[in-house]
Amino acid sequence: MTHKKIIVFSLFLIFNLSCFVGFSSEIIPNPDSRVFTIGEFILSNKTKINYSDDFKISVDFLKDFLNIDSKLDKYSNQINFLHKDINNEEGYILEILEKDINIYSETNKGAFYAVQTLRQLLPYQLESNKSNIKEFKVPCQIIKDSPKFKYRGMHLDVSRHMFSVDFIKKYIDALAMLKFNTFHWHLTEDQGWRIEIKKYPKLNTIGSYRDSTLVGHYTDKPITYNKKKYGGYYSQKEVKDIVAFAKSREVLIIPEIEMPGHAQAAIASYPFLSCEQKQIGVASTWGVFEDIYCTRESTFSFLEDVIDEVMGLFPGQYIHIGGDEAPKNRWKKCDDCQNLIKSEKLKDEHELQSYFITRMEKYINAKGKKIIGWDEILDGGLAPNATVMSWRGESGGIKAAQMGHEVIMSPNANLYFDHYQSKKEGEPVAIGGFTPIEEVYNYNPIPKELDENEKKYIIGAQANVWTEYMKTSDHVEYMVFPRILALSEVLWSSNKTNFTEFKSRAENYFKRLDKLDINYSKHLEKEETK
Ligand code: ACM
Ligand code: ZN
Repeated sequence: MTHKKIIVFSLFLIFNLSCFVGFSSEIIPNPDSRVFTIGEFILSNKTKINYSDDFKISVDFLKDFLNIDSKLDKYSNQINFLHKDINNEEGYILEILEKDINIYSETNKGAFYAVQTLRQLLPYQLESNKSNIKEFKVPCQIIKDSPKFKYRGMHLDVSRHMFSVDFIKKYIDALAMLKFNTFHWHLTEDQGWRIEIKKYPKLNTIGSYRDSTLVGHYTDKPITYNKKKYGGYYSQKEVKDIVAFAKSREVLIIPEIEMPGHAQAAIASYPFLSCEQKQIGVASTWGVFEDIYCTRESTFSFLEDVIDEVMGLFPGQYIHIGGDEAPKNRWKKCDDCQNLIKSEKLKDEHELQSYFITRMEKYINAKGKKIIGWDEILDGGLAPNATVMSWRGESGGIKAAQMGHEVIMSPNANLYFDHYQSKKEGEPVAIGGFTPIEEVYNYNPIPKELDENEKKYIIGAQANVWTEYMKTSDHVEYMVFPRILALSEVLWSSNKTNFTEFKSRAENYFKRLDKLDINYSKHLEKEETK
């Protein structure tokens, strides 16, 4: 190299490095690789978008975000959506040149995530749809990116407290922005049945409403109740609308219909579903309840009918059947349950629960769908094709992976967003626990105990949002943000950095959350004192 070339090359390197430092603070989750080149692309209403129909979802999102029309006769530059084999249907290459932005991906999923990244390279003011900015300069660069895990989920319990259709969409929208691909919708509980089932209308006229709600924490003494009727449900029309919205965000919804426990609202609606067949009410307090589904034939007919309607509404492959926290006292005293244990030659009530879940799995598999259950479904023998969601720590997930079952990690110590995120005075009442954002950021869904072959069964992770203590959507947002930013990076980024560096990107991201009207908490520090 001549002297002149060395100087030019060095300047080029310095420029790249300074750009990297200058702009790399923008993107969450951090992409796999990002290389800056010289120049900038000027996005404006003279930018044309070229695409084939299979990228329509991504293009519609982009046009909506930018408020531009893509079909122009005269244009100054263009965004091109292009097919390329990159070994991952959710991966993408985002190439920003001076006259072209090229988005390469195998499917719309990858293109959609490229658009979510491009979004973060644009001014945060655009998030509110009120921006007067008409031209956006984007530094030339090439980003190559793909997800670390194929299952990237967030859960929401709408039974303890219910949230509007608009909020459910806002939640899904936020998930998509952070490259989550799954929304686990917890629809049935002791305290309320939240999905319309046409064949069993009492699930909605009775099961969707409780006549009172516990006030304060459930350990508070004396116990007090708010005597106001509380409840509601999502009509099938609303569910379809939400499912369609999720599709426009490349988010798959997994509906959860709990069995055999957490079924008090269903039993309140149809007492024949329980062992004692007595009329009980929809639960007003939080916890684990004795009245669970009986294992009589009539329960299976009911659940099969319910699942038929649910499967008709949700296009995804998974149905979550719960399986957690089902006390066995009623089954121990029930002649019908005991007779079934004998006739099926089962050892005990744990094996009866396994019979229950396996039977439902067979029904669901026969319809071409798969089940997910909480890790209690391991007790008494795991249903043959089940995916396990490990919440009581990681041991259930480890065991399931060693048995060759797919696992989603959701351990309560690390990924329960109903836990406190700060020990500071004045935090709103939470269920308990302490899961600061740093704990989430440093969580690794792959347990050390697994060997190379077993590791591949860990398909991803998810945070759970149980809403006993979250009465409003603002409160849900407060518990979810910013911890969800950390989880997005755990799940997406092979190029995860360290918490200190992440914190500065998260802080920067707050401007975007402000514009999106998201009520995030500002807890980024691990405050140890109360
Ligand atoms: C659970 O938290 N009961 C799954
Ligand atoms: Zn029974």
